[in-house]
Amino acid sequence: MTPFKEPVFITRPILPDLEELHVKFKGIWESKWLTNNGEQHKLLEKKLQIFLKVPYLSLFNNGTIALIVACRFLKISGEVITTPFTFPATTHVLTWNNIKPVFCDIDPVTMNLDADKIESLITRETNAILGVHIFGTPCDVFKIQEIAYKHSLKVIYDAAHAFGVEINGQGIGTFGDISMFSFHATKLFHSIEGGALTFNDMDFKYHIDMLKNFGIKNEEEVLGAGINGKMTEIHSAIGLLVLNYVEEEKRKRECILKCYRTYLRDIEGISFLSDISGTTNSYQYFVIRIDEKKFGLSRDEVYDKFKVYNIFTRKYFYPLCSNFDCYKYLPSSDPKKLPVARKVASEVLCLPFYGELSLEDVARICDILKSFKR
Ligand SMILES: Cc1ncc(COP(=O)(O)O)c(C=O)c1O
Repeated sequence: MTPFKEPVFITRPILPDLEELHVKFKGIWESKWLTNNGEQHKLLEKKLQIFLKVPYLSLFNNGTIALIVACRFLKISGEVITTPFTFPATTHVLTWNNIKPVFCDIDPVTMNLDADKIESLITRETNAILGVHIFGTPCDVFKIQEIAYKHSLKVIYDAAHAFGVEINGQGIGTFGDISMFSFHATKLFHSIEGGALTFNDMDFKYHIDMLKNFGIKNEEEVLGAGINGKMTEIHSAIGLLVLNYVEEEKRKRECILKCYRTYLRDIEGISFLSDISGTTNSYQYFVIRIDEKKFGLSRDEVYDKFKVYNIFTRKYFYPLCSNFDCYKYLPSSDPKKLPVARKVASEVLCLPFYGELSLEDVARICDILKSFKR
């Protein structure tokens, strides 16, 4: 098996045509309106609201600031129950709001917050549940809502991986009190950097828009300690162009996904997520899990071996947030309390997954993986 000549990365962004960019930028240059809710910004908000099937949406300069603002707006304090199996930003957002993260173990199949384990972690200090639709798989949104109602908790979702996901035709961004989407360059839909909050309440829009603009109400009034979370006209314009390519990219990724599943179907020790009835796929990542005993090699060994073939996979999400120096002192970070999360974090590997990846290359990546098996 020969290595790839050029490095194969986990993802490649959608890049709009440079000519199209030029036309868009020319319009922005002529308007001389570069940020602060300009025409491109307004248009992108409208288009994303329709695409994501959400009643209200507010754009941000990135998903992390958006999530910080969501917690701030909902006045969340005390403790928040969340998952340790996520990107660092999810947990850091709580810390930036002086909130104590309480890690809950995850479901062995969906790899999301295990809803059955949430209630035992609720204390008098608990204010909210922060779930992450990891790899685009929805959390158990119905059970989580039930728990939230019962205990008067807020629900926030980190939907960074779940762009365009629907449950029985309902946009994923309509569940919970507020959802956050990330439009970072690694995401299926992106604006290079960017993000959004979505919600069902009209009042939220006014206040959240104000909070992301320093809390400024008008030229003479500042209503709260806001932040600069605004998306520029340039980023909005890129988002508008990228959005035109999303459906085509999804179709290509769907073929790649099918191809991976076919090639990897019968390899002992390799498993992957299946489709969930009534739920659409985010086509954000292709994730495998490696059972060391059955495959003969650990996930870390597979990751290292792939590199020799010029294939750069990612150990998403390892280490667990509960293992970071800044969180490992927390009582809920005790590894004994997070057995499933620890196992999942040691098994998961994201393989190259993007529309430009040829089916021949997918076959070759799978053949290389098969050649590792002992
Ligand atoms: C699950 C998750 N949450 C939050 C973020 C942060 O989003 P952003 O990079 O837009 O700040 C990311 C990745 O970028 C993510 O994967």
